[in-house]
Amino acid sequence: MKSSASESSSKPPRPPRLSEQALTLMVIGLVLLYALWMLRTPSPVSPSLSSSSSLPALALSSENIPLVTGEEPVIEIFTRAGCPVCHVIPGIPGANGQVGPALVLGSTGAQRLADPSYRGTARTVHEYIVESVVESGVFVVPGYPERTMPVWYGAKLSALALEKIAGYLESQTDQPQ
Ligand code: HEC
Repeated sequence: MKSSASESSSKPPRPPRLSEQALTLMVIGLVLLYALWMLRTPSPVSPSLSSSSSLPALALSSENIPLVTGEEPVIEIFTRAGCPVCHVIPGIPGANGQVGPALVLGSTGAQRLADPSYRGTARTVHEYIVESVVESGVFVVPGYPERTMPVWYGAKLSALALEKIAGYLESQTDQPQ
């Protein structure tokens, strides 16, 4: 009796399903782990701001101040020249600087001219204001810092602008109007 041939070898090999699934699971697992890690890690601290946000350097230097012709409205004359940064000036919006005295020369001007330490050449309050602006070192108002009021206004303000400044300031008083 002849033995029949074995039939066991006829089946095609099974595709390696299991290992493919395992690979897929591993990838999903890794992605999940990565996602979790990202969620738990605090977002990186942005590079220190201190270097980039330096104080806005007081933009008050001769180069930054435009020429003031005097044709501008009086508010603009003061604003362009930067006076509001350091002075209170009645009627000028935003002029509440505290570095120098309030510019109420209608009230304070006579006092300055009468000050025993006054060495300037002004005879009137009007002249005193012009002198204070173009030769700011001549007289330093007692109680205020010297060499603080800029010294270059003479080169930036036209004669007309100076006239308007003096005319405006000599009529300001510290009495609320
Ligand atoms: C950087 C600050 C600063 C700016 C800007 C500045 N001043 Fe002054 N100013 C001072 C200081 C401080 C004094 C007081 C010390 C002195 O007399 O120099 C003064 C004094 C004065 C005085 C004399 C006041 C008084 O009561 O006798 C006048 C007038 C004056 N400034 C006008 C102006 C005008 C007008 C401008 C703009 C064109 C201006 N200042 C811009 C700081 C400033």
